Amino acid sequence: MIEQIRKHIEEAKQFSAQSPKEVEEFRIQYLGKKGILNDLFAQFKSVPNEEKKEFGQVVNELKNLVNEKVATLKASFENTAEVNSGLDVTRPGEIYELGARHPINIVKNRIIDIFSRIGFTLSDGPEIEDDWHNFTALNLPEHHPARDMQDTFFIEQKQDFGTDMVLRTHTSSVQIRYMEENKPPMRILSPGRVYRNEAISSRSHMMFHQIEGLYIDKDVSFADLRQTLSYFTEALFGKSKIRLRPSYFPFTEPSAEVDVYWGLETETDYRMTKGTGWLEIMGCGMVDPNVLKNVNIDPEEYTGFAFGMGIERIALLLYQIGDIRMYTENDIRFLEQFKSELF
Ligand code: DAH
Repeated sequence: MIEQIRKHIEEAKQFSAQSPKEVEEFRIQYLGKKGILNDLFAQFKSVPNEEKKEFGQVVNELKNLVNEKVATLKASFENTAEVNSGLDVTRPGEIYELGARHPINIVKNRIIDIFSRIGFTLSDGPEIEDDWHNFTALNLPEHHPARDMQDTFFIEQKQDFGTDMVLRTHTSSVQIRYMEENKPPMRILSPGRVYRNEAISSRSHMMFHQIEGLYIDKDVSFADLRQTLSYFTEALFGKSKIRLRPSYFPFTEPSAEVDVYWGLETETDYRMTKGTGWLEIMGCGMVDPNVLKNVNIDPEEYTGFAFGMGIERIALLLYQIGDIRMYTENDIRFLEQFKSELF
């Protein structure tokens, strides 16, 4: 009999509960009306006299132990937030919607990342620019017909030559600012907003983004330019086949338009490339000696290349976006498609 009670004591000591419900079950099992303890007390009468003392002691021990156990287990559950606030901590959490970066920023950051791997650093300049940095120093003197290539927003038009203020029409102005203040070798990338006085359509906008590259050092060649651009298209589009079509920019000589071979595998490829397989992605060239002279770099000692591209256009190609106006409409259904992008 006493052996039996000692077993109960051991069991009660070992007991642990996962929930308040289990504690209550434990309490009823021992302390309930038809529980173990009442049963034992009922048997007290029939215990032989010489055993009564010891029997009484172990039963009391069991009772105290169970009371203590129930109290501490109950307290431990009451201390959890679950019980206090009625909160079910096992429920899945609420999902917070993450925002997405704008596609223009994603593409800009990717381009910066690609060029920074080969030593290009960032440089920027003002969006309100003077005539010298936007035009004249870039080998576009006043009355030069090539000024008409970009419809300009004038902010202030002064009579005396060279002091006009404009909204910069391209990021090439940053080249001039950087070369005026630094010595070769130099390798910079300049992303930023540019402005053109053009009608808004599916393909053009009054404000858009460009990214400019400039590399000046001894013995920089056209082959270096080509290799750099091929590295770039491979890294961005996974396509390294490019062609350089002769073109004209006042600030480079020779100048070229860069096409990337997109392929003709799908119907979309056909549509995007108008059946040619080629897509134009940027302008480039060897920095014109006149530009170097304008910023006091000796063209006999140094040569360099430059390139410039529109970020909107690159993003159109990468994400197959049909209309440039989508970038500024702020339609959530458009923007949230870029959530999974890392940059
Ligand atoms: N500035 C030119 C534009 O806005 C783009 C460009 C072409 C930049 C050739 C360059 C370059 O640096 O070499 O259309």
